[in-house]
Amino acid sequence: MEELKGRNLVLGVSGGIAAYKAAELTRLLVKAGAQVDVVMTEAATRFVTPVTFQALSGRTVWTDLWDARIGNNMAHIDLTRGADGILIAPASADILAKLAHGFADDLLTTLCLARECALMVAPAMNRQMWEHPATRRNLAQLQADGVAIFGPGEGDQACGETGLGRMLEPEEVLEAVVAYFAPKLLVGRKVVITAGPTFEPIDPVRGITNTSSGKMGYALARACVRASAEVVLVSGPVSLPVPPGVRRVAVQSALQMRDAVLAEVPGAAVFIAVAAVADYRPAQTAEHKIKKSGEPMQLWLTPNPDILAEVAALPQPPFCVGFAAESRELDAYAAAKRAAKRVPLLVGNLVQDGLGGDDNEVVLYDDRGRHPLGRATKTELAWRIVEHLADLLAGGTQQE
Ligand code: CTP
Repeated sequence: MEELKGRNLVLGVSGGIAAYKAAELTRLLVKAGAQVDVVMTEAATRFVTPVTFQALSGRTVWTDLWDARIGNNMAHIDLTRGADGILIAPASADILAKLAHGFADDLLTTLCLARECALMVAPAMNRQMWEHPATRRNLAQLQADGVAIFGPGEGDQACGETGLGRMLEPEEVLEAVVAYFAPKLLVGRKVVITAGPTFEPIDPVRGITNTSSGKMGYALARACVRASAEVVLVSGPVSLPVPPGVRRVAVQSALQMRDAVLAEVPGAAVFIAVAAVADYRPAQTAEHKIKKSGEPMQLWLTPNPDILAEVAALPQPPFCVGFAAESRELDAYAAAKRAAKRVPLLVGNLVQDGLGGDDNEVVLYDDRGRHPLGRATKTELAWRIVEHLADLLAGGTQQE
């Protein structure tokens, strides 16, 4: 999905070790569909050369206020005309100070002062610089001026110290930029999502599970963050990274998932049940590893609680969204499931279309009927589901 298709960005690179991360960021922005004009400060060119950025962006890299290549000799004006935003990554303590005070002593700072478009910064510096009262004052000023500040993160620093001040990883900066431009469809709302399989223990080393990859639930979590929601992802065992901005609660069994969900649902506006919860669990979990006897073995299973139905039956339930994975007769089974679990929105798909892969084909079922979303990547479908959900939350004004 080209989340930044049609966007024109100026990527400002200031001087700092994290400038190397800006190279990967350039690649990701271009891959997401943006046109990227890179502007480097003089200090930045000491860390990475303009050639790297030229190759990655496929465009001329600008470093000099006095560059004679622009016809009217006004690079400081022309580069942001038609741009949707300037993103400075990494943004050093020095450039933040200059921006806060309106300095314009090189191409990048002049561009920032002479702009009409958005300004986003991803700070990167040593932790003492980050904590210094001067930097704190500058940050507060930039915030008051409407500048978007992404990060910084916490962790090991190039200086050998540990603390706040690391530039966010390129994927995290990309996600923040995409969210910045995305419509704030779920702003101020808490969304709780379940994802992945559950694992029902038989003994300390064995259990019952299924092949759910968690990809759809994780894609929905990303889409909800992008729509500015507060997102809690209650996830069964999967090997996917936690999407930026998402709070993940890791669980194993259906009972643990249910407890975690019931603890998070108060205050939530939306509950989306994507997890492939095991319908049954072993009636007993052996304390020690079961030894083989050579004889046939019987395993007694007991039904698990239906988390979605339980949440939907709360006295004041959040808006509930269910998923129905069927292997045939999707329309009939999905409609029956929506009625049985009393959920206003149900997302149906055929297991052979979606399980484990990156693509899926889904149909939405709500009070207004049936809405096929067609075949697309899970990322794209997640965004379309969020759009539909936001429309229902707003009272369903969207014309079909
Ligand atoms: N679900 C749940 N808790 C369960 C079982 C299912 O929260 N114990 C949720 C799923 O996350 C999904 C929806 O209910 O949103 C439907 O799940 P699905 O497995 O398709 O249906 P089941 O209710 O398990 O019915 P069946 O297995 O008979 O199709």
